[in-house]
Amino acid sequence: ECRRRAVRERACDVDAAPDTALLHVLRNDLSLKGPKYGCGLGECGACAVLIDGMAARSCVIPIEGCIGRYIVTLEGLGTREDPDPVQQAFIEEQAAQCGYCLNGMIITTKALLLRSPQPTEAEVMLALQHHLCRCGAHIEIRRAAMRAAGLLVDIRHLDRAVLWPAVRGHAPTDAVAFADGDGRQRLAVETR
Ligand code: FES
Repeated sequence: ECRRRAVRERACDVDAAPDTALLHVLRNDLSLKGPKYGCGLGECGACAVLIDGMAARSCVIPIEGCIGRYIVTLEGLGTREDPDPVQQAFIEEQAAQCGYCLNGMIITTKALLLRSPQPTEAEVMLALQHHLCRCGAHIEIRRAAMRAAGLLVDIRHLDRAVLWPAVRGHAPTDAVAFADGDGRQRLAVETR
């Protein structure tokens, strides 16, 4: 029996065998349905949670390995009224089809930004490379993760006077590259 696990900033009493997968405790005992059961083998990423700020696959982590750890599920990131910036980015990009993989995509993006607030596009892709989406929504998911990372910026929010030389000659929906004030290369995409 394992007791007093910290989940969502509260200690929870859980009556379960020590080798019970964290995912089952979260979903079945604590009714936290954000993490999803996909493969059950640690391969798809649908069950990801934050453990001490790191993305972890809860389907293969026994609760005895969670003693003293700080666990955050998707429910702990934000609310419908006040979503986390990563959740907001996924909403703005409408980055979902069936939505089953989104928990893992969002949690892993959040973990990346916690340890690397200004990641490169390559780092974003590396972080998400072992998350599966069977709908094929990878393009939108990639855009959402990049938006959350500040790599994808809607030029309506930027200084057009600065951007105009870079975007001239491109169709409104073209992605264009430009260097911002600090010389960092970013993508700007016009959205109608
Ligand atoms: Fe945990 Fe697939 S359900 S990685």
